[in-house]
Amino acid sequence: MSEPTIESILQEKRLFPPTPEFSQNAQIQSLEDYQQLYDKAKADPEKFWADLAETQLHWFQKWDTVLDWKPPFAKWFDGGKMNISYNCLDRHLTTWRRNKAALIWEGEPGDSRTFTYAQLHREVCQFANVLKQLGVKKGDVVGIYMPMIPEAAIAMLACARIGAPHSVVFGGFSAEALRDRLIDGEAKLVITADGGWRKDAIVPLKAQVDKALSNNSVPSVTNVLVVKRTQQEIQMEPGRDHWWHDLQQGISADCPAEPMDSEDMLFILYTSGSTGKPKGVVHTTAGYNLYTHMTLQWAFDLKDTDVYWCTADVGWITGHSYIVYGPLSNGATTLMYEGAPRASNPGAFWDVIEKHGVNIFYTAPTAIRAFIKMGEQHPKTRNLSSLRLLGTVGEPINPEAWMWYHRVIGGEKCPIVDTWWQTETAGFMITPLPGAIPTKPGSATLPFPGIIADIVDLEGNTVPDNEGGYLVVRHPWPGMMRTVYGDPDRFRRTYWEHIPPQDGKYVYFAGDGARKDEDGYFWVMGRVDDVINVAGHRLGTMEIESALVSHPAVAEAAVVGKPDEMKGEEVFAFVTLEGDHTPSEELVKELKKHVVQEIGAIARPGEIRFTDALPKTRSGKIMRRLLRNLAAGQEVAGDTSTLEDMGVLDKLREGV
Ligand code: WTA
Repeated sequence: MSEPTIESILQEKRLFPPTPEFSQNAQIQSLEDYQQLYDKAKADPEKFWADLAETQLHWFQKWDTVLDWKPPFAKWFDGGKMNISYNCLDRHLTTWRRNKAALIWEGEPGDSRTFTYAQLHREVCQFANVLKQLGVKKGDVVGIYMPMIPEAAIAMLACARIGAPHSVVFGGFSAEALRDRLIDGEAKLVITADGGWRKDAIVPLKAQVDKALSNNSVPSVTNVLVVKRTQQEIQMEPGRDHWWHDLQQGISADCPAEPMDSEDMLFILYTSGSTGKPKGVVHTTAGYNLYTHMTLQWAFDLKDTDVYWCTADVGWITGHSYIVYGPLSNGATTLMYEGAPRASNPGAFWDVIEKHGVNIFYTAPTAIRAFIKMGEQHPKTRNLSSLRLLGTVGEPINPEAWMWYHRVIGGEKCPIVDTWWQTETAGFMITPLPGAIPTKPGSATLPFPGIIADIVDLEGNTVPDNEGGYLVVRHPWPGMMRTVYGDPDRFRRTYWEHIPPQDGKYVYFAGDGARKDEDGYFWVMGRVDDVINVAGHRLGTMEIESALVSHPAVAEAAVVGKPDEMKGEEVFAFVTLEGDHTPSEELVKELKKHVVQEIGAIARPGEIRFTDALPKTRSGKIMRRLLRNLAAGQEVAGDTSTLEDMGVLDKLREGV
């Protein structure tokens, strides 16, 4: 693990308080209000969350205990019964929201659909009945490999409704990556589409599913449900594959939500770590519902009149928590868009905002940098006056991108809500409450009420202000992941024992380096483990290395992140070759293609450098720090005395 460095962090002093108008209309209106709320939550977290659970959610049966904490395993609201699909749909139907737009969808080729709460409820019930008809039962894991179409959200809610945990796999992952995830989760059924639009091209999703399931390599999967989207020819395997529109014919729209235990698994979502294969992060029902509900409501100051747009993909946690569950649980109007920022249509995003009068816009720094590059004439020629709040997530936002977002998109009046969180945390952990907390460009500001965050050294001691350290959380929260699917030991080791417990007190280790300034503001610097962040996508360097080594020409590979202006980081691979294989441009191309095949396009190396040897310590560990320096074109910094063969460095600089 590398030490976080603070030299790279800007000493950013600018402060942007919310406008008086924004504060006056906000749920939490001043720094004092935030402080009070924070102190109250800190003094008695269980009471704080229990009060909110009581007033904000519908329960079939109330819980017995708020928190059962046997570190590092937590149960929240144990004994309670509820259903998140009920909270997202049914409870709104008896209010005026029945005919409110729940989901507005914009398709890539210009088509669009809107579902009211009543309509969405009907679709979800029908979908749930189809799943039941195909034999899916409570507790069965369902794989979802879908484009950004309404049916992705409908499928998730339908699974939740009948108590079948979903395991959504991002549509950009390869057949191999999909297969691994389906096997790990022992999925019974896969929901997919014929294809999906991605940047002017069609991704053949069904063909990838066929490949993933070929040779009976995932025996647990007995059915595949296919939504028609792109209309191209696909293979349908009789008995296994079914068209959604066929099964929907004549199916009942009556499907009461299954009362679920608070701690029943809601979903698995795979994410990359520093070692081994991706981890199946497990989230459960009630705590997840409460946490995504409250964080969205307060951090985005959600109002019933808002049109809210989060640009993430449902294949990531941001899509789960803040396109589907958080907004719908709050009865909001959530907008879903099939497209991505692309040069062929540089005004597309701003057209969507103008067309639907979007009030809250939530995106990633990498997208903002792409917009900057495309030019401000595109947003400037659209009417963006409906916007009242802007959010960002996924990586530290560079102050220039922040300022551009603030000036060009926000018209200098919208608060910028920089939300720090992770797949593991379910929802925002460090974030401004926009009516209360003045923002600083590049800082996620202060912890959400109920979150006890700190910066510590490797022994778990709090470090002084403005000194770099490891970001940790000192008290359980309702949205925390419960375990790694099938591997509780890995959960314990990765997140809770990295910083050794002091006096039996466990702290959650996030894997990020950060510092806290004199105002208590958090500045997240990025990962301190072997995880890299490419265009907001989290990738384990080990996964990419295994993919490379699985190619017959490769003997050894070491992957590091190279700083990249647009993507934040880019995959940089150092490779040694097997036997008589020789470096060539063709081989570079082939290896890049191979990684795409093994993992997906998001992991494609930007650069591959061949070398005779990798720099190793005498004990055989690859010295990644040196490789990071080399990839960035920097002088090799720090101690190299443990390097086994000094000559390796010179050769690496040149490449072979
Ligand atoms: C990074 C995405 C700085 C961080 C929700 C974290 C951020 C990882 C921010 C989680 C932010 C996310 N500022 N860094 N606002 N948001 N990160 O699991 O390194 O895909 O650990 O969840 O993204 O990525 P994940």
